[in-house]
Amino acid sequence: MGTVKTITFEPNPKQVEFFESKSRFTAYGGARGGGKSWAMRTKLVLLALANDGVQILLLRRTLGELRENHLIPLLKLLKDVARYSASDKEFIFANGSRLKLGYCDDENDVLQFQGQAYDVIGMEEATHFTETQYLCLTESNRVSGQTVKPFKPRMYLTCNPGGVGHDWVKRLFVDRIYRKGETPEDYTFIKSLVFDNKFLMTRDPDYVRTLMSLPPARMRAMLYGDWDAFEGAFFPEFDREKHVVSTLSIPREWQRFRAIDYGLDMTCCLWLAVDSTGRVYVYRELYQKNLILSDAARTIDAMTGNTEEIRYTVASPDLWNRRQDSGKSGFEILSQNGLSGLIRADNRRVTGWRVTREYLSGDEPRLIISADCQNLVRTLPLLRFDEHQREDVCSTPHELTHAPEALRYALMSREPKTMPKTVKAGRSPYSFDTGSPTEYQYSDIIDF
Ligand SMILES: Nc1ncnc2c1ncn2[C@@H]1O[C@H](COP(=O)(O)OP(=O)(O)OP(=O)(O)O)[C@@H](O)[C@H]1O
Ligand SMILES: [Mg+2]
Repeated sequence: MGTVKTITFEPNPKQVEFFESKSRFTAYGGARGGGKSWAMRTKLVLLALANDGVQILLLRRTLGELRENHLIPLLKLLKDVARYSASDKEFIFANGSRLKLGYCDDENDVLQFQGQAYDVIGMEEATHFTETQYLCLTESNRVSGQTVKPFKPRMYLTCNPGGVGHDWVKRLFVDRIYRKGETPEDYTFIKSLVFDNKFLMTRDPDYVRTLMSLPPARMRAMLYGDWDAFEGAFFPEFDREKHVVSTLSIPREWQRFRAIDYGLDMTCCLWLAVDSTGRVYVYRELYQKNLILSDAARTIDAMTGNTEEIRYTVASPDLWNRRQDSGKSGFEILSQNGLSGLIRADNRRVTGWRVTREYLSGDEPRLIISADCQNLVRTLPLLRFDEHQREDVCSTPHELTHAPEALRYALMSREPKTMPKTVKAGRSPYSFDTGSPTEYQYSDIIDF
C-alpha cells in the first residue's frame, strides 16, 4: 500500500457553510477577498475525493484567470493526489473522479459543454457570465452515471456584484424573484466579506484599506457586498449639470496648455485653461482618426488661435520612443511640425485617475468642460472599472479611453509633486535642425 497523503484545510465559518450546502444551486460571495476562490477549489477537491467517480467541471471566464486563480494552486495541492492531463485540462483521481477545468471567453464557448454531463459544475465569478451561458451550463449539470453511489447534481457559484451577469445572479440569489419552473428552495446564497477571511486580514491588511478608498458606491459593493450599490461607472462623480457648460469664455490672462493622447486610431487633443484659483477649464478638443504625426501637429497648431499663448503641451510618454520607420521619435516629429513646449505625461494610471476624480468631486468641482468638447463629455461617464485591475479604467471598448486619457495627462501635469524636474522641449522646429533640443527647467515652462 502506498503512503497516504493527508491534506488539512482550515475553512472559516462562512466557507464551512459553503462546504456543507447541498442545494441544487449554491452561490457564495458578495464582496471582494472573502475567500471564494479558495472555497470553490477546495470544495470541488473534497467532492472528488469523497464521491468515487464524480465528474466535475470548474469554469472561469478566461483561460488566463483560470490558470492563475486555479490551475497553479490545484497543481500544488493535488501533487501526488491526482494526475493532471494538460491536453484535456483535467485532474484524474485514483477513485475515478475527474475535475475538468474550462473557460468561456466567448459567448459561444459554452457550447463545447453541451451534450456533456457533469455531476457538479463550479462557476467562478459567475457575474462574468451571461444568463444565456449560465442556462446552457445548467443543461450539462446532470447525472453523469459514473459515480459509484447515487449523487444529486448541483452547481456552485462564486460572485461579486457587477459584471455582465450582475442581474441574473442578483435575481436568483439576492432578490429571490423566481420565474415559472424555478424552485426557490433550490437556491442558497452565502454572503462572504473580506472580514471573514482571516488569512487575508492578517497577511494583507492594506487590501481592506484599498477597498475602503474606492468611490462610495463601488466601496459598498466590493467591501460590504451590497448588490444595490453596484455602480459600474468609473466616475460616478461626473454630472453634466455640474461639469459641463454651454458657453465658456476664457480671459486672456488665464494660463493655457494642451494635452495629447496620440494614436493613428484616434488622436485626441484637449485645450485647457487655469483660473487664478487653480480651477481647470477644458475649452476645445480635437478628436480625429488616421492623423499621421505631422498632420496631427499641423492640425493642432491650426486649431490654436493666433493670440492664444500655450504654455506647454503634455503628451503620451510613448511619443518619446524612437520610431522604427523614421528613426525619429514622435516628440521630434511633432516638434518639427510646429508643436512647441512638449512635455512627457506622467503616466501613472491609478494616481492619474485618482487626481481626475479629485478634480470632479465636490459641489464646486475644480474641472469645468465646455459642451463643445463633445467626445470628452460623451466618454467620461461611459468609462467602466477594470474588473481585474482595481482602481483602473477598463480598456475596452478602447474608443472610450482616448479623451479621458488626454484629460488624465493634463491634470497630472498640474500636480506639483508628480512633475518631472526637467523637461526637454523644442520651441521651434529649428532647434532640432541643430541636433540640440533645448533643455528647459520645468519651472521655465510651467510657472503657474
Ligand atoms: N481557509 C483558507 N485557508 C487558507 N488560505 C485561505 C483560506 N481562505 C482564503 N485563503 C487565502 O486568502 C486569499 C484570498 O482568498 P480568495 O482568492 O479565495 O478570495 P476571493 O474571495 O476569491 O477574492 P476575489 O474577490 O479577489 O476573487 C488567497 O490567498 C487564499 O488562498
Ligand atoms: Mg476569487
